[in-house]
Amino acid sequence: MNSKMIKRHAKITIFMHWFNTFCWFFLLATGLGLIRNDDLQLTGGWWSNLMVSLFGSAETLLLVHEIVGLVWAGAFMVFLVFGFRKYVLPFLRQIFTYSPSRDLKWLIKKNIQMTLGYKWLKRLGFTPDIPEQGFYNVGQKLFAVVSVLGGIVIVVTGLIMFLSNILIDNTAIVQWAILIHFVTVGLVIGGLLIHIYMAAISPDERPAFFSMFTGTVPEDYAEHHHKLWYDEVKTAERKAHSA
Ligand code: HEM
Repeated sequence: MNSKMIKRHAKITIFMHWFNTFCWFFLLATGLGLIRNDDLQLTGGWWSNLMVSLFGSAETLLLVHEIVGLVWAGAFMVFLVFGFRKYVLPFLRQIFTYSPSRDLKWLIKKNIQMTLGYKWLKRLGFTPDIPEQGFYNVGQKLFAVVSVLGGIVIVVTGLIMFLSNILIDNTAIVQWAILIHFVTVGLVIGGLLIHIYMAAISPDERPAFFSMFTGTVPEDYAEHHHKLWYDEVKTAERKAHSA
């Protein structure tokens, strides 16, 4: 096995990813606890009671949820401003760039290969090769788009709710904000379950999981899973050596 490592993630992006993960789980736990409406109880009420008793009162629970939400959004604003050219723009370029025919083929073939295996790929009339992907595969890119756009919607609707007592005196707007906030969180969580399975549980992607701590991946993993990115890295290395 080729054990040479290549750089995949910068320290700051690793930090932002885990900071984001912590905030997401905290906000989800406290947010679910804030649902006191009997018709909307996803957890039969026990979670809400647990959260309220943990934080002392429903008011404190709401306050803590709002503070963490504001810190989460604020930290991303700072990252957006100071890291725009170096980190944010390249990331957005990656996740919004698609090659429709290659990416569609990847989605179909990869799903069959992961769920039914190579044997079924052949049985269903496909060749065993999986189309090459760039820094992120199309599944990762689609989830990233959902989490970025979802994050923006969640922050905006959250701010509307936060400001509802001070600035916004329009019940209809606030009620729409509550509904959209709730539905958007549900959509991102749907994608997040697949993301966590692919990133942390699937043995195929284990090197990518470790790269979210170390920042590096083995060359053979990069070549096998992200060939287009691997080729770019190698071309850049060759150019740097010959310069
Ligand atoms: C236990 C929770 C989580 C685990 C284990 C996890 C794991 C990972 C790993 C290993 C990567 C790097 C993939 C690569 O280098 O190819 C990654 C990237 C990423 N993560 Fe997470 N993550 C978690 C939570 C989250 C949350 C809560 C969000 C946002 C809602 C998120 C959004 C992203 C995005 C946008 C990327 C870049 C694109 C992608 O790989 O999908 N992650 N994550």
